[in-house]
Amino acid sequence: MEGDRASHTAVLVCQGRAAAHGRIAEGRFADPVAMELLRTDELLAVQRVREGRPPTGWGERVEFETVRASSEVVVPRTIAIDDAIRARPVSQLVVLGAGLDDRAWRMPELADVDVFEVDHPASQRDKRGRLGDLQPLARSVRFVPVDFSRDRLEAALASAGHDPDEATTWIWEGVVPYLSRGEVRATVQAAGGTSTAGSRLVVNYQSPSMSAAIGRLTVRAVTAVAGRRSPWADEPRRSSWSPSAMSGLLARHGFSLQRDDDLLALAVDLSIPVRHHRSLKAGRVAIADRQPG
Ligand SMILES: C[S@@+](CC[C@H](N)C(=O)[O-])C[C@H]1O[C@@H](n2cnc3c(N)ncnc32)[C@H](O)[C@@H]1O
Repeated sequence: MEGDRASHTAVLVCQGRAAAHGRIAEGRFADPVAMELLRTDELLAVQRVREGRPPTGWGERVEFETVRASSEVVVPRTIAIDDAIRARPVSQLVVLGAGLDDRAWRMPELADVDVFEVDHPASQRDKRGRLGDLQPLARSVRFVPVDFSRDRLEAALASAGHDPDEATTWIWEGVVPYLSRGEVRATVQAAGGTSTAGSRLVVNYQSPSMSAAIGRLTVRAVTAVAGRRSPWADEPRRSSWSPSAMSGLLARHGFSLQRDDDLLALAVDLSIPVRHHRSLKAGRVAIADRQPG
């Protein structure tokens, strides 16, 4: 992230979840909390997507399409990550780059789990302001301000009470593209160094894709022409990883790959109607476990 402003992409993915709730993959996806985290002006495009009512104005239409595309991308990745959390219950969940992730307030399965929300200090301040008096379903929520480009994750987690001798599930959703390769390596190293057997790392990342990059440039140009501020203005893409490079990195830090799916395959499995094949194909969710020994 650049500067000291809260993440706009965190709002966009939250808008995507709010727009998808009750509309996409019903029975497998539900996020009633997302709506509660959004401000009035951020809800307008969400309502329009929910009602299938595209606005006629150029600028509003761009926002509508961006939120609609976000809803399509977030559903398969949210379901894959939720399933991975449920499949291997542990007592600590670390949410890396938490943004407006609301699992601690949404998932009853976390009733015996301490959740550590790690995020850039500016984004975390913004989230805490939005939470109001929402009560978590998790046993506890601890906010851990960390800038991955400057701070030491291990030290920040230790001072928040994370216990490296207890198994941890780490989730890292929608963050890797915004970090440099060095920051990604350092974060996996920190997770590996503070994970005992039984821990799991679930990472959503982007594989290299020329067509997805061209798609993003097109969205940026259209957004500029429409006189709108792009959600990516302060959050440039910094790294993409081939599946083999990602599995190699995970293995070097003690996590052995269990599966690594692209979002298009996950969406097709869920019978989600797909418009944005290229961006779904480039997005991936890898699940890797810490083995004993
Ligand atoms: C697209 S949002 C994803 C948020 C959340 N994981 C989700 O899927 O809803 C990207 C998140 O990465 C965080 N982030 C980006 N760069 C960061 C950095 N250098 N240090 C800490 N967090 C960072 C932002 O603050 C933001 O919360």
